[in-house]
Parts: sequence; C-alpha cells; structure tokens
Amino acid sequence: MAIRLGDTAPDFTAETTAGPINFHEYLGNGWGILFSHPKDFTPVCTTELGEVAKLKSEFDKRNVKVVGLSVDPLDSHKGWVGDIEETQGAALNFPLIADPDRKVSTLYDMIHPNASDNFTVRSVFVIGPDKKVKLTITYPASTGRNFDEILRVIDSLQLTANYSVATPVNWKDGDDVIIVPAVSDDDAKQKFPGGWKTLKPYLRVVKQPNK
Ligand code: BEZ
Repeated sequence: MAIRLGDTAPDFTAETTAGPINFHEYLGNGWGILFSHPKDFTPVCTTELGEVAKLKSEFDKRNVKVVGLSVDPLDSHKGWVGDIEETQGAALNFPLIADPDRKVSTLYDMIHPNASDNFTVRSVFVIGPDKKVKLTITYPASTGRNFDEILRVIDSLQLTANYSVATPVNWKDGDDVIIVPAVSDDDAKQKFPGGWKTLKPYLRVVKQPNK
C-alpha cells in the first residue's frame, strides 16, 4: 500500500554497504531520508550517489541520516562503490541497502510495475524524529533528483517543527516566512516578539526566526 504523509515509516532490517541496520534504530532521534535507485551500474544513479556523498556535511548539520536503496545484491553494490568514487570524486559515506528480495522496496511501494517490474523508481521519503513520513517524492528512472531541493524542504520542515512557521512559494533560506494559521495573534506575540506584517488575517509574514 502506498505510504502517505503522516504515516509511520515502516521499520525493517536490511543488509547495507555499512553492515546490517535496523532502520528506526539507525535513525535514532533525528531526521532521516530513505531514497531508492533503479539499479547498480547505471549512469544517473551513479551521479546521484556521488552528490549525496558530497552533501554529507549538509545532512549532518540538519541532523539527518541518509539511507539509499537499490534492489541489487550487496556484492554488486560493493563493486559499484569504486565507480562512484572514481567518476564523482566522492566515496559513498552512507548506507546503501541491498534489496534483492524486494522486501524494503515492496514495504515502501518503490516498484511501480507499469513503469518497470524489475527495478524501483526514484522514491524519496523524509522522516521526522517522530518516525512519521513528512515528504514523499517520486521521480522517473531517467531523471536525476535535485538534492538541493531536498535540503530546502528539510529546512522548511524543520522551521515548521521548531518555530510554527510555514514557507511561501519559492522560499529560500533567509527569506521571510509565514506564521502558521494554527497560531493565534495572541500566541504569535509570544513567539515573534519582533512583530510581523499582516497582509490578510490569514497571511502573516515574519522574518525567518533562526536568522
Ligand atoms: C540511470 O540511473 O541512469 C537509469 C536507470 C534506469 C533507467 C534509466 C536510467
């Protein structure tokens, strides 16, 4: 069954390039990203894994643990890792799940049979410290994902979790944000002592609180 926002991210154990993991234990009390790749030794996937390795410090800064998945077996992953480092200039520095029996990909509905019976689509799940799914994205095999966008969404999710603000269209880190409708004006006075601009009673714009 499809996983929807607000669902608890299914837990599992799996073999990975970093040894066996229990998913929830591995995430601990922080944030997580689980993302799937169609297949080992494929060009777009190779670029994506190199890019995520280069962004490790950005994920660390945000307390996000990253886990990749490809349905090929562990031996295949181990052979591919060298190619990623050689061609992308970054060594794999996060676990890549081997899922030859499709256990995890089935649990997360990552195989879309009308796209391909044999490999996963490019799924992304962002998971909060409460283990609830906060974001899902599905890309086709032929389109590499934009991991800067995924970091941007994590920044937005963390602002909402920590400061009760939402982010407007095309928001970038440092831009003004919006007080969520659930916060009354009385509560907003406590939360945003520097004030805000009311464009409409439901549209209250405030400086990004953590800047
Ligand atoms: C790739 O990762 O390059 C890829 C995988 C499957 C289909 C098309 C592209």
